[in-house]
Amino acid sequence: MDFSIKAFNAKNAIAQHKAGCIAVGVFENGKLSAAAKALDEKASLTAAIKSGDISGKAGTTLLLHRTSGNAKRILLVGLGNESEVSDRNFIAAAQAVARVFATLGSNDALVALPFDVVQGRDADWAQRTMVLALRESIYRADALKSKKDENRNGVTKVTLAVDESRLAHARKTLVQSVALANGMDLSKTLGNLPPNICTPTYLATTAKQLGKEFKLGVEVLDRKQLEALKMGSFLSVTNGSDQPPKFIILRHMGGKAKDAPVVLVGKGITFDTGGISLKPGSGMDEMKYDMCGAASVLGTFRAIAEMQLNLNVIGVIPTCENMPSGSATRPGDIVTSMSGQTIEILNTDAEGRLILCDALTYVERFKPACVVDIATLTGACVTALGHHNTGLFTRHDGTHDALANELLAAGKASNDTAWRMPIEEAYQEQLKSNFADIANIGGPPGGSITAACFLERFTRKYSWAHLDIAGTAWKSGAAKGATGRPVPLLTTFLLERAKN
Ligand code: BES
Ligand code: MN
Ligand code: ZN
Repeated sequence: MDFSIKAFNAKNAIAQHKAGCIAVGVFENGKLSAAAKALDEKASLTAAIKSGDISGKAGTTLLLHRTSGNAKRILLVGLGNESEVSDRNFIAAAQAVARVFATLGSNDALVALPFDVVQGRDADWAQRTMVLALRESIYRADALKSKKDENRNGVTKVTLAVDESRLAHARKTLVQSVALANGMDLSKTLGNLPPNICTPTYLATTAKQLGKEFKLGVEVLDRKQLEALKMGSFLSVTNGSDQPPKFIILRHMGGKAKDAPVVLVGKGITFDTGGISLKPGSGMDEMKYDMCGAASVLGTFRAIAEMQLNLNVIGVIPTCENMPSGSATRPGDIVTSMSGQTIEILNTDAEGRLILCDALTYVERFKPACVVDIATLTGACVTALGHHNTGLFTRHDGTHDALANELLAAGKASNDTAWRMPIEEAYQEQLKSNFADIANIGGPPGGSITAACFLERFTRKYSWAHLDIAGTAWKSGAAKGATGRPVPLLTTFLLERAKN
């Protein structure tokens, strides 16, 4: 999908714009947006509203064909109550536009929705929301279908109408929105690939390709090197698998050489059977999504590299499969992590923390400004927060409130929200082991919290946040598919850091 920006004024009036379709806004009180008014020749739009064919409720649409005028069609789009257009209202409107455009009998369109009417949001936000909704609507996961999904027609060229005052700004926002959409696409595509294709080796190859295309530093460590690093915890998870484990390091050094990097660590379990603590069969295919943390790191790097972000960012991805076999780790096995702490593995299905803990020790060498890990870590997080919010965990001793707030704000700004959960000393008790320094599970109560508490023990040398994306990284049921989350949250977080 091609995007461009155009500003209109008296000389260059919107009524003169030639397009297959122009999308304009209408409010619930029947009032037309400014662009709609400019196109209301012979009061035809007013008449359509008076007829009762469109209520103006957010997300409602009415497509009008015209015999005169330069635009062949006008798409009226409901924005809700004029005095209180909410985020949700505008997102619904943007998605409605995308839905109509997807099957339109024309390939070019102008979006002239008012970008400056959303409460508490600026025009950048609305513009970005529009672009992301359009890109989301054309995303397909049909690479492996012999007959491709329908809807290859529809609008392919979209012009965004913006206020002249923000023309330069709108162009920059567009470049960033497209880069973000490209990053989300990569993240979704990797998540949706089947686990026989998207193996640890495949993720490593993808990282190397990304490195070549965008001039990122990419390094891949293999089993021998991981053994030399004494990553006994990570390696214990890969014992049952025939696929070789990989440890991927990506570098985007857009900042000053001496600036401490932000480090992202993504869980890359390309398939989680549970291991000897085998998962139930029903729905197990969805454990191909257990590498969505890794996919979000790769997607975020795709986005920030295209944006040429002025910030030092390092991505680290421990990746392997969690399989049962005669050589697999047993419940009761005790392993030594890279940090030296010994771990009693009471459940081989709590494997994410076992690969992450060694990666979290490894990243100490970067003397990071902060470390954020991203993981489809616990079913308990889905129980706690459902599918709307990612779980955000940081230490609750007051030293991490600023980092937590940055991440929460980035989530809010990018429609990719997180909710802060507690990490307190009291929960650490649940991880006591009679035979090792720590157990890898803490029982059912507060399962997402004890998982975070486990990670916390390996992160005491830097400031750290953990994102549990088990509920937000993919959708189940008829709409099964990766969401691309939390690439928007992470990218926005890094964009804000680059500004300061
Ligand atoms: N990858 C799963 C977490 C998961 C499960 C995410 C279902 C999304 C949906 C993780 O490795 C896991 O199996 N966690 C266990 C931990 C338990 C054994 C303490 C879980 O959540 O059941
Ligand atoms: Mn598991
Ligand atoms: Zn897992």
